[in-house]
Amino acid sequence: MAILPILEVPDPRLKTISTPVESFDADLKKLVDDMFETMREYAGIGLAGPQVHEGLRLFVAGVSAGVLPDALSDAADMPFVTLINPEVTFVGPPDKTGWEGCLSIPDMRGLVPRAAEIRVQAYDRTGKPLAFGASGLPARVIQHETDHLDGVLFFDRMASLDTLT
Ligand code: NI
Repeated sequence: MAILPILEVPDPRLKTISTPVESFDADLKKLVDDMFETMREYAGIGLAGPQVHEGLRLFVAGVSAGVLPDALSDAADMPFVTLINPEVTFVGPPDKTGWEGCLSIPDMRGLVPRAAEIRVQAYDRTGKPLAFGASGLPARVIQHETDHLDGVLFFDRMASLDTLT
């Protein structure tokens, strides 16, 4: 395993749209392992492909070694997940404001509106389809990481940059 360098703003590669993962092969498994190691090294709660120079639609996230349940709601219990080619559907409007930070935007945080509840469809690292619901901080993390795959950073979502600190 290896710790990967993390791109930081204003690197233009953070603003590009990533391409879908097509092969669930040994290279993908190694990338996922390295992304988990990198996320832990920098004490992140999520890390997306474009942040580590891989313009691929995947991210790793989570804080504990649990098993993915049908629904995620508690940040403290958010199991480590690998979500590949994720599709997020909002349940209700994106109007719940909360603080976010990002490993690619060092030392900054801001208040970002997100959907309080979402449905997620994705594949795991073996190519198995996943479908589950999420609310609370896990829903926020998944929306933040999925945004990275479309070149969207959290301050792009902020209603006002006044809270950027
Ligand atoms: Ni981020």
